[in-house]
Amino acid sequence: MCGIVGYIGDEEATPVLINALKKLEYRGYDSAGIAVFNGESLTVRKAKGALKFLEQKIATEIIKGSMGIGHTRWATHGEPSDINSHPHTDVSGSIAVVHNGIIENHAKLKTWLENHGVVFKSQTDTEVIAHLIDFHYNGDLLKAVQETLQRLEGSYALGVICQSDPERIIAVRKDSPLVVGAGKGEHLIASDVPALLEYTRDVYYLQDKEIACLYRDRVEFFDEEGQAIQKELTHVDWDVTAAEKGGYEHFMLKEIHEQPKALTDTLRARIKTYASKSINLEEIGFDASWAKAHRVVICACGTAWHAGVVGKYAFEHYARIPVDVDMASEYRYRDPIFDPADIFIIISQSGETADTLAAMRMAKKGGARIIAITNVVGSTLAREADLVMYTWAGPEIAVASTKAFTTQLMCIYLIALQFGSLRGVLSEKDLEEHIGALEKIADQAEKLLSNKEEIQRFASRNFNKTKAFFMGRLFDYAISLESALKLKEISYTHSEAFAAGELKHGPIALVDEATLVVAICTQTALFDKMDSNIKEVKARGATALVITYDDETYFDKTADEVFRIPRTLDPLTPILSVIPCQLFAYYCSVQRGLDPDKPRNLAKSVTVE
Ligand code: AGP
Repeated sequence: MCGIVGYIGDEEATPVLINALKKLEYRGYDSAGIAVFNGESLTVRKAKGALKFLEQKIATEIIKGSMGIGHTRWATHGEPSDINSHPHTDVSGSIAVVHNGIIENHAKLKTWLENHGVVFKSQTDTEVIAHLIDFHYNGDLLKAVQETLQRLEGSYALGVICQSDPERIIAVRKDSPLVVGAGKGEHLIASDVPALLEYTRDVYYLQDKEIACLYRDRVEFFDEEGQAIQKELTHVDWDVTAAEKGGYEHFMLKEIHEQPKALTDTLRARIKTYASKSINLEEIGFDASWAKAHRVVICACGTAWHAGVVGKYAFEHYARIPVDVDMASEYRYRDPIFDPADIFIIISQSGETADTLAAMRMAKKGGARIIAITNVVGSTLAREADLVMYTWAGPEIAVASTKAFTTQLMCIYLIALQFGSLRGVLSEKDLEEHIGALEKIADQAEKLLSNKEEIQRFASRNFNKTKAFFMGRLFDYAISLESALKLKEISYTHSEAFAAGELKHGPIALVDEATLVVAICTQTALFDKMDSNIKEVKARGATALVITYDDETYFDKTADEVFRIPRTLDPLTPILSVIPCQLFAYYCSVQRGLDPDKPRNLAKSVTVE
């Protein structure tokens, strides 16, 4: 939801903090702030709005000091405003705190503090933390933070500095991400690795409730009980430019274009090519015992849930195993039935989505075994699952997920095919045919992207349509769901997805001349059904774009326009058919003068309910 950073070293902290915050703006951008210690006192500067407003505010004054913390906010408690921006301080202004997460018992703590004479400045939940640390402070900041943590309920990643304890930053996390960066003569904290890459590639991933004390020349770690612990240093080998725009106008367009490489990276390590081609999931600890499951349950949110819908079709088709696909936000509050013989597949780009983590923990408690599909190494999901299959997509910065989605699909297909093979449903020949098709898909995605101007032109003619409906059957329905979400997220067009066969059961009442219908038609056995559906919406005045194979003429007479994707096996088309829809959403957003990377009201990582 929010991004936090911290720096202690020999350099001026302000430019480092601002620079690092720029890499985290995707996590929240309704206000920002920094607190810097200059050897004598703390200076706090905050501004409502995007980070550039904070930069403008501090451009005219030099804030000196080589230790500081910073924050970019996505409001949860209290409207976006200068006052509600972080850092928050105690009454005297000598302790400053940045926080990502939610303090669930803040109201109770606030009343308690008010009864002890504290006057609050903001409407945030975070401010209680600064006052509590002050309350417990007795010359030892670490102890004061430890005592404060015992009183907090909820989620947090915290950075704390104190002018009476000027040699260190204290950082801690619970259910919100936090990484510690170790440089030469300097240490940093950040909510996500891209913020650190310019300064160091050596990072420590904090576990829940672990505390880090960052000094210029060293970092010390403590567990929940306050015992000193050793932590393993991880070297991050991402390219710095992978977290920057690299010549593209927006991160989203860059990430759409990175899909061929991301797909190749995700697939390559998992294919064995000696003798015959087979899938190798041993590196993640997947063995034949997993395929003995009675049922697969897939749980996720948003785009990741759409990958799960594709997963349902794929598992049923390839492995003949019952599959439930659930929205984590529903699942966690239902009364689901657990069977220890179930396998849970939990999908999350960030690995930090609150609802998804809660669903995973419920399933775990119910005795199920968990496979996590995530993009973020060291994320909470990765740490708590039994098996982790990483989507090697690299950092995804744009709020609208693109390359994370297609690589999630790649992982889902690999697991489903392996299930099918181990359960004796898929023959060796079928398996090889599918692996061959998956191996070609990155090049096919590249080819498809080389025609992106066609979609751009189509978007420039249709971006101002007030309604857009996406329809399809089976795998194409799953992609309709994802395409409608993408369009609404970044262009604010009212868009919906329908299983095409459901149209006549209600939604067709909405279709008129102002409606754009995108019909995804890649399930060959159902072409005639789709053709009828397209005719039905056209008869009511809609404009129809069909997405189908490049060698297919079935819809040429029915559609107003046809966008063609390279031919692959019908069940594998989602990886390709979603790409024109991602591009369409992107170009509609740009045509409307919006910023596709930072859609209103949304944040990249939804770490609160
Ligand atoms: C994707 O475009 C969305 N921004 C959103 O639906 C996202 O997929 C969802 O919040 C889940 O996030 P996760 O994959 O990080 O768990």
